[in-house]
Amino acid sequence: MCGIVGYAGTAPAQDASSSTGQRALEVLVEGLRRLEYRGYDSAGIAVVGANGIEMRKKSGKLVNLLEELSSNPVSAASTGIGHTRWATHGGPTDANAHPHVVDGGALAVIHNGIIENYSPLKADLVASGHTFLSATDTEVAATLLAEVFRGLPEDGAGSSEGAYAGIGGRLAQAMQLVAQQLEGAFTLVATHAEEPGVVVAARRNSPLVVGLGDGENFLGSDVSGFIDYTRRAVELGQNQVVTITADQVEITDFFGVPAEGREYLVDWDAAAAKKDGFASFMEKEINDQPDAVAQTLLGRNDGAGNLTLDELRIDPAVLKTINKIIVLACGTSAYAGQVAKYAIEHWCRIPTEVELSHEFRYRDPIVDERTLIVSISQSGETMDTLMAVRYAREQGAKTVSICNTNGSTIPRESDAVLYTHAGPEIAVASTKAFLAQITATYLLGLYLAQLRGNLFQGQIKDILAELAKTPAKIATVIANSGQIRDLARSMSETRTVLFLGRHVGYPVAMEGALKLKELAYIHAEGFAAGELKHGPIALIEEGQPVIVVVPSPRGRDSLHAKVVSNIQEVRARGAMTIVIAEEGDESVREHAEHVFYIPETSTLLAPLLATVPLQIFALELATAKGYDVDQPRNLAKSVTVE
Ligand code: AGP
Repeated sequence: MCGIVGYAGTAPAQDASSSTGQRALEVLVEGLRRLEYRGYDSAGIAVVGANGIEMRKKSGKLVNLLEELSSNPVSAASTGIGHTRWATHGGPTDANAHPHVVDGGALAVIHNGIIENYSPLKADLVASGHTFLSATDTEVAATLLAEVFRGLPEDGAGSSEGAYAGIGGRLAQAMQLVAQQLEGAFTLVATHAEEPGVVVAARRNSPLVVGLGDGENFLGSDVSGFIDYTRRAVELGQNQVVTITADQVEITDFFGVPAEGREYLVDWDAAAAKKDGFASFMEKEINDQPDAVAQTLLGRNDGAGNLTLDELRIDPAVLKTINKIIVLACGTSAYAGQVAKYAIEHWCRIPTEVELSHEFRYRDPIVDERTLIVSISQSGETMDTLMAVRYAREQGAKTVSICNTNGSTIPRESDAVLYTHAGPEIAVASTKAFLAQITATYLLGLYLAQLRGNLFQGQIKDILAELAKTPAKIATVIANSGQIRDLARSMSETRTVLFLGRHVGYPVAMEGALKLKELAYIHAEGFAAGELKHGPIALIEEGQPVIVVVPSPRGRDSLHAKVVSNIQEVRARGAMTIVIAEEGDESVREHAEHVFYIPETSTLLAPLLATVPLQIFALELATAKGYDVDQPRNLAKSVTVE
């Protein structure tokens, strides 16, 4: 939630990379363009040039800020900060947009997170004569930072060295002192007219990475904030302050003690985060899915049925003693966990629970050193999941993170990580990450089965061989999606859609409903088909669309027959039935208004195929309604507050 960019480069006069001296502005705007998926309630920038701080901000999407910048340009600058907001404290207005400029126009501050003790801090500041222009907690932090900055001697006299240590000077010291006082989660970034060329940031429980350039350095909520300029990134730890100038990066803790960050090379480039000619990122990411699954499988088995999960740094002896698995995740990632439960329990015979991260630690869960926690998060920054993982570790559990974002917080705070290699997912609605997550959890399940001897090597080899065929089958589903696209477009007036599934089809049904809710703003619910007669069937009336995920007739035969009965039951009460079934399953035709076929596969792998038509259905229906499928209302990609 909220996207942050910071930039420190060369002084405009020597700025060879930009004829206009607007390099800082270019970098900030490009960064915000790429980070807009994190929030789009407002956008703003502040640059530090010869005229001091110049700030522009506007409520609404980035385009509003761009219009403002073209009618009211800023001067050439070497340093700046930028912010795209998902509103927490205070509505999405111009006044509440970031940056917040204080200290008589000399200090600009942006923020991601929630400062929990902002109220007493604000009361103290009001008592000492400060007034506030916005309803945000950020302006409180900014005002406090200004006050602390002014309270420090200009030359650092009185500090242990007699002058400010390091490159950050007075602003960095002020930031450390302020960060010590703040409670909650925050990334705060500041730049001051009296220290041009310097950007200082503090981070606790909120994302921030550094980008290393040549004669310029960057800050971003994630690497997409600077991926157009460099792939060299530095991870920061919790409770750290970082200062960047054009040619230096300095990291300390909140008390000024020097710290190190881990440098890494981002394994994707700017092209991977472009639409590639597709109408939306979501459409592109749906099309990326064969690759996302293939890349996640790549290099993780030796071809003979032996899994080689080198990055899983938990002692195999410990994994052998595990007697319970708890999957922690939210939203789509939690549905991936629910799919995984069926496979892991079937293959490994380890009891597996799936828990929404935000519910987990409040129910006094039974967790000990024999519990394996598997967290699933595309972003690796979801605060609810991070907090649940921390709680589980405190109880002694071993934690594995399944994550799509290298360098993010959850994998860093876990005992081990299994990366999904889906590439950057920009559309707010998750698609390719979901399929990659299912794939990764299956690899983990098979690895545990291998380690614990639950499956023979030949069985694992067969499952891996079938998984390897999945990317081509997903591509077939996408290539044959014309019919479901036409149907979705014809249903743009629909008010409510029900989804039914059984076994692994149940989480797929819930995921289909979630996609429709978040993209088309249509009421949609996913039910376990067996639950229908226990209440939900009362919702069925003439014409009610019901989408049913039908299991393979070749697999668990009784399940197939039961789902077909469920279709008949809703149809008898007037439902308009839309069925996702396996190629060759003619038995469903007579019970369905519309049938969409997916290629044959085993029961457990079917979610990797059956989900795709549901994603496409939601995308097309939302598009037909004229909605922005990449940036649905009220949502943000990374939910970094609890
Ligand atoms: C799904 O389309 C949403 N974007 C959302 O439910 C998401 O899956 C959830 O917020 C979890 O995010 P994470 O995977 O980054 O932790």
